[in-house]
Amino acid sequence: MITTDQTVRIFLDFFRERGHERTQGESLVPSPGDPVLFTTSGMHPLTPYLLGRPHPLGRRLTGLQRCLRTTDLDEVGDDTHLTVFEMLGSWSLGDYGGPQSLRWGIELLRDGFGIDPGRIHGTVFGGDDQVGPDLESWRTWDELGLPVEPTTDENWWSNGPIGLCGPDSEIFVWTGDETPRGTPTSDDRWVEVWNHVLMRYLRHPDGSLEPVRRRSVDTGLGLERLLRILQNTPSVFEIDVFQPWLTTLPRIWGPLEEPSLRVLSDHLRSSIVVLGDGVRPSPSGRGHILRRLIRRSLTTLWRDDPTRTLSDLPVELIDHTLQHFRQSVRPLEVRTILLDEERGFGRILQRGRKVLSHRRFTRPLTDEDYHYLHDTHGLPRDLVVYLTTESGLG
Ligand code: ALA
Repeated sequence: MITTDQTVRIFLDFFRERGHERTQGESLVPSPGDPVLFTTSGMHPLTPYLLGRPHPLGRRLTGLQRCLRTTDLDEVGDDTHLTVFEMLGSWSLGDYGGPQSLRWGIELLRDGFGIDPGRIHGTVFGGDDQVGPDLESWRTWDELGLPVEPTTDENWWSNGPIGLCGPDSEIFVWTGDETPRGTPTSDDRWVEVWNHVLMRYLRHPDGSLEPVRRRSVDTGLGLERLLRILQNTPSVFEIDVFQPWLTTLPRIWGPLEEPSLRVLSDHLRSSIVVLGDGVRPSPSGRGHILRRLIRRSLTTLWRDDPTRTLSDLPVELIDHTLQHFRQSVRPLEVRTILLDEERGFGRILQRGRKVLSHRRFTRPLTDEDYHYLHDTHGLPRDLVVYLTTESGLG
């Protein structure tokens, strides 16, 4: 069975053989002055170069970048979404165009990773009232002999409401047991693995689009999603890098239902990586996201058994994660921070239980109650919901 490390090597070698230089993956924390909280895509550290600045390594690049997306937080636990994930990428900075990128993409999936082209489906930008259909990519899909579906919103990629954007073509792989059927928009067993974006426009605050001087191609391949296909697992959670989580957590905390096991593996692993990149829990910004991840882990953990504690988390598991992401922070330091957060959160819950035991709150809570509990007692709504459900009041 092909491993995560081998998969990364095959991808990077394929592009190196085609003249791409490897960029060093950067931290989840973007450089100072960058408006986003976390790196959300492999192209993120390359933004100035996609905007036209010459890159010191040339015009063809490849690399592996860790990313964090909180937009998908509620979807974590399904078969495909993770909070922290890794993205393999290839970039043409004003060099070759979209058709070459798609051709190499299909060649690598087919010949490098052995994916049957009969399980591959493409999508392409079908045009809207501002930009016409991406006929060049459409033709490429036809020439490759692969089925393609045009869409509008799903095939436009942007790095936020303003800034770099453009039409994209997405490569989907069939994950069902039977013969592939339907299309990516009609059957969710088609899983998107690789996005090829034609970075051609800058979106202005008034919604208008300005063509960029130099056209680039930005691609991003979800590593864990590809591994799920290559290792033939039911979801991203059974691939090799998650194995230590799936075996250790039930051993230390007893049987865990499927969604809880997935949420705990994702959130705790993500928290460790965020800590590994130097973020510390705090009431706002990056630290707040980290705190939310830790608290969501704790509420999931305590729902069935309030005596469970993060102090049972083996230091080896923390170390395994830090090593995978090549982070140099000491595992014991990470553990200490997790335990401090657990104690702090435990105190808040205790205080919350006391406040909520007041007669005023024994009836269903109103919006006014939620405001009062938040403003006067610092108890956020989701925490109150958790506490009232826990005590059977909700
Ligand atoms: N930037 C593109 C994405 O994140 C490749 O999907």
